[in-house]
Amino acid sequence: MRGYQLVPGSSGVYQAEEARISQGVVQSDHTGYSGTGFVNLTNTAGSYAEWTIQAGAASAAALDLRYANGTTVDRPMDITVNGTRIATAHPFPPTVNWDTWATTSLPITLKTGTNTVRATSTTGDGGPNLDRITIH
Ligand code: GCU
Ligand code: CA
Repeated sequence: MRGYQLVPGSSGVYQAEEARISQGVVQSDHTGYSGTGFVNLTNTAGSYAEWTIQAGAASAAALDLRYANGTTVDRPMDITVNGTRIATAHPFPPTVNWDTWATTSLPITLKTGTNTVRATSTTGDGGPNLDRITIH
């Protein structure tokens, strides 16, 4: 069941390389990622990664996004859950280099069944490199 987990309460780790990617590629040319690689989104507004989450029960949860930003400026992203934007230009501040990963968190609400979580670049710089999300 590549890319899916079915856990009551919706907990789980979802790799970026298993997400649906629009304008981006899976790469592994930096260190420190989990799984088999990370997603390098195209440096343009609108590039995104979208995860499909099967939740065994409706729940409030925390969404952690693990990322790297080897530049000196923020790479903000909009976060949507089931098509509803829950965060506008959520900050992904610099992590010193592309081999250094950080986690940023925000609260989400999942419904029973199939959910989508999408992170979309909001500026022409694109998003950060994305390693994984964790829902807990
Ligand atoms: C570099 C880096 C990529 C990153 C890109 C960017 O090319 O190697 O991993 O995605 O910068 O600026 O987005
Ligand atoms: Ca990029």
